[in-house]
Amino acid sequence: GASAPGLGALFGGDFKVGTALSNNTLQAQNPGLEALVAREFSAITAENAMKWEEVHPQADVWDWQRADHFVDFGQRHKMYTIGHTLVWHSQMPESVFVDGHGRLRKRSDIEQTMESHIAALAGRYRGKIQAWDVVNEAVTDDGQWRKSHWYNTLGENYFSRAFHLAREVDPNAELLYNDYNMTIPAKRDFALEQIVKFRKQGMPVHGVGMQAHVHLSEPAIAKIEASIEAIAAAGLDVHITELDVDVLPQAYDYMGAEISTNFAYSEKLNPFPEKLPEKIVDELAARYESLFKLFLKHRDKVRRVTLWGTTDAESWKNDWPVVGRTNYPLIFDRDGEPKKAYYAVAGLK
Ligand code: XIL
Repeated sequence: GASAPGLGALFGGDFKVGTALSNNTLQAQNPGLEALVAREFSAITAENAMKWEEVHPQADVWDWQRADHFVDFGQRHKMYTIGHTLVWHSQMPESVFVDGHGRLRKRSDIEQTMESHIAALAGRYRGKIQAWDVVNEAVTDDGQWRKSHWYNTLGENYFSRAFHLAREVDPNAELLYNDYNMTIPAKRDFALEQIVKFRKQGMPVHGVGMQAHVHLSEPAIAKIEASIEAIAAAGLDVHITELDVDVLPQAYDYMGAEISTNFAYSEKLNPFPEKLPEKIVDELAARYESLFKLFLKHRDKVRRVTLWGTTDAESWKNDWPVVGRTNYPLIFDRDGEPKKAYYAVAGLK
């Protein structure tokens, strides 16, 4: 079994260790997994349940069941509970932007929809959510605004508008900007520049979430450290929001495009269907150890480390960036047993 106090308690209350709760877990109300989460973690994020298309699939349709269960779980276990996410380009009903005739809606209608969405969602859980990922993935890897429907219709002010609205609706929640590949200097620097600019104009913001969907050796620890330092230097808290370590050959980029032709097809697709070779099990443990060592070294800046799921069985990395890969990115195995990676992290205490 895992260590007695669990990871959340192990490092102390000011350094949260979190996980994401999948829809399956929230729907099936999986008692075994919930007990494991309650014991091991001090923070939770809903992997999908609060995303627009899940919770608000049509203009007048809200589906609160999983989100309510999630927030209730956080309350019962006194966990740092993160709302994910208010404004994002993905997992969005297209009908928010486009009418029944395929025409882009009016700017004022889209703005109104954003306002009422934030009011209803953040309002329902006011006082029960410790932090909101207010805006998710607004910046491209080359350091520009992502040309999403949000940006294309409302311009860059959609970003600050979302933070102002979240503040009005739930004044005590910490407000975060969340993105992946935040170790790419162009991307990170652009995001920080914009946040600092808006903050000078009065936008409320507390921190930046680095998603941290990483690989066994990339990005290098030094690059991650540089971004932790850059975010803190801008006066913002660092949250590691979606940590997992992809152990499979890096044959695809984030969107599923092939980036390497150095692997045989079967090897690219699913090289370890039954079991991860012991050598890689050890590499994974070493990677987790060096990541957590870094986060703990900067615990004055890093408020929280959240893993993107609890067991390998439920990880999105089995299907991303291409479906049908058996992946081993987390610290509990498919049966919910702690892996070497778990003990490597726990051993840092
Ligand atoms: C992922 C979920 O894990 C998957 O189940 C879903 O199919 C797609 O989204 N960045 C984010 C997360 O902010 O919301 C994403 O979660 C992973 C990338």
